[in-house]
Amino acid sequence: MTLAVEHATKRFEGLVAVSDVSFELRSGETLGLIGPNGSGKTTLFNLISGVFPPDSGRITLEGRELTARPPYAIARAGIGRTHQIVQPLTDLSVRDNVAVGACFGRRNLPLARAYEVADRVLEEVALVPKRHLSAGKLNIAEKKRLELARALAGEPLVLLLDEVLAGLNPTEVGAMLDVIRAVHRRGIDVIMVEHIMQAIMNLCDRIVVLESGRVIAQGSGPEVANDPRVITAYLGDPKLVAHLRGQG
Ligand SMILES: Nc1ncnc2c1ncn2[C@@H]1O[C@H](COP(=O)(O)OP(=O)(O)O)[C@@H](O)[C@H]1O
Ligand SMILES: [Mg+2]
Repeated sequence: MTLAVEHATKRFEGLVAVSDVSFELRSGETLGLIGPNGSGKTTLFNLISGVFPPDSGRITLEGRELTARPPYAIARAGIGRTHQIVQPLTDLSVRDNVAVGACFGRRNLPLARAYEVADRVLEEVALVPKRHLSAGKLNIAEKKRLELARALAGEPLVLLLDEVLAGLNPTEVGAMLDVIRAVHRRGIDVIMVEHIMQAIMNLCDRIVVLESGRVIAQGSGPEVANDPRVITAYLGDPKLVAHLRGQG
């Protein structure tokens, strides 16, 4: 599925959070979206998933217009997303949370079918043993996997992952990366926002770099890691520069 963002701009009062951003997610790809804090990554996901419309610009999936359509319509067109700040329905069971995700993704889905989808997805993210717990009782790694499960239950063609590795320990990161790889292997294209550069470099075919709402570079891992503009954007953070260059 080709997801195209063309000249998207979004302002918040005086601030231009996303400024004339254009890029494509091509069929079969995992695309990394990186940039310093506040560079507009989450806002871009919000534009694509319909949380709010862009002030200008277009978003299309296989040429189908998604711009400014409501979130449920965009989900049903095939875009799934996770939230950087996980948002489970804390009093509902893990399984119910995932079934809600299934219903959001499809119109008039019978409840029995929603639970079938939920059970399949819970297996995929290894949450079956926790399925009857209240979502609020999960630890952070489990909440991140639940967030992914809710998005997957909508049976997306394209998945937007917003910092699904944040707050996880190295073992949990490894487990999550395995899940993402498996999801991609079964044909779901992925855009991932992530600060763990090794993960981005390992998983992504191409990387788009944002700074202050603008695309400052895009290309393969080595291409962006050696781009002087990218290095300058990250200069405040030498650790990140080292990671980008593969020494971290
Ligand atoms: N709903 C909002 N209202 C006002 N300002 C916002 C809102 N969402 C994001 N911003 C601002 O837009 C900029 C980009 O934020 P964000 O997209 O969250 O960046 P990132 O995900 O790259 O850290 C930041 O300056 C942020 O404070
Ligand atoms: Mg963010």
